[in-house]
Amino acid sequence: MMRHIEFLPEPLPSEPLVIVNRWMAEAWQHRHQPNPNSLVLATSDRAGRPSARVVLCKEIVPQPGYLVFYTNYLSQKGRQLAENPRAAAVMHWDALHRQVRIEGPIAQAPAADSDAYFASRPWQSQIAAWASAQSEPVASRAALEEAVAAAAERFGAPLPGHPGPEADLEIVVPRPPHWGGYHLWAEAIELWVEGEGRVHDRARWTRALAPQPNGFFEAGPWTAARLQP
Ligand SMILES: Cc1cc2nc3c(=O)[nH]c(=O)nc-3n(C[C@H](O)[C@H](O)[C@H](O)COP(=O)(O)O)c2cc1C
Repeated sequence: MMRHIEFLPEPLPSEPLVIVNRWMAEAWQHRHQPNPNSLVLATSDRAGRPSARVVLCKEIVPQPGYLVFYTNYLSQKGRQLAENPRAAAVMHWDALHRQVRIEGPIAQAPAADSDAYFASRPWQSQIAAWASAQSEPVASRAALEEAVAAAAERFGAPLPGHPGPEADLEIVVPRPPHWGGYHLWAEAIELWVEGEGRVHDRARWTRALAPQPNGFFEAGPWTAARLQP
């Protein structure tokens, strides 16, 4: 195996999300894992009890600096984010010896953006979004499949297992009001690359974010510091 030597740039650049974007692109190129855009997202409730799960990072917007993911607003994470609209996220590209940590406030994406993304998804995923009250108990697998069949019928889609002439289908499924995007605004970013003999390279960027109307934030300049591993 090739010896791995990578250091973070010196001096540290002023825009860390440009590096994150490049690392994400390289993770897609190498495709060591089926979902290079998987993101571990930690949220917590009002009492500070944390929970974490994987979601897919659908977009990195280096300017003004946020990540986008989609989910059910009434799920456990959605309820926690309503109580405490902050999150911490981790991306780990093991084969590339890189880790990214991002922390900051979270806001729902504009409805028009969620509509556009939902419309771009396959109708099977759209039906599933209607059928699943994410994170709620369900009596059985059969009951879940009945809910999917009921949603399919409601929107004129073929029932699961009876695909029908899919090519000819024009199924229009509106976005459920409880499903959409979130923007995780980067208030702190840490980049980590594995070093020889456990002398890893780490740097952390922080900036101030002032809330604006419509879930946007006015961002101050980044301050960077190299950290001991
Ligand atoms: C690879 C992978 C990708 C996932 N992507 C998403 C996603 O983009 N959105 C989502 O809501 N759940 C996604 N999930 C499921 C979540 O991990 C989780 O089970 C679900 O969102 C419910 O979490 P909650 O009960 O904490 O709200 C994904 C799971 C895996 C393993």
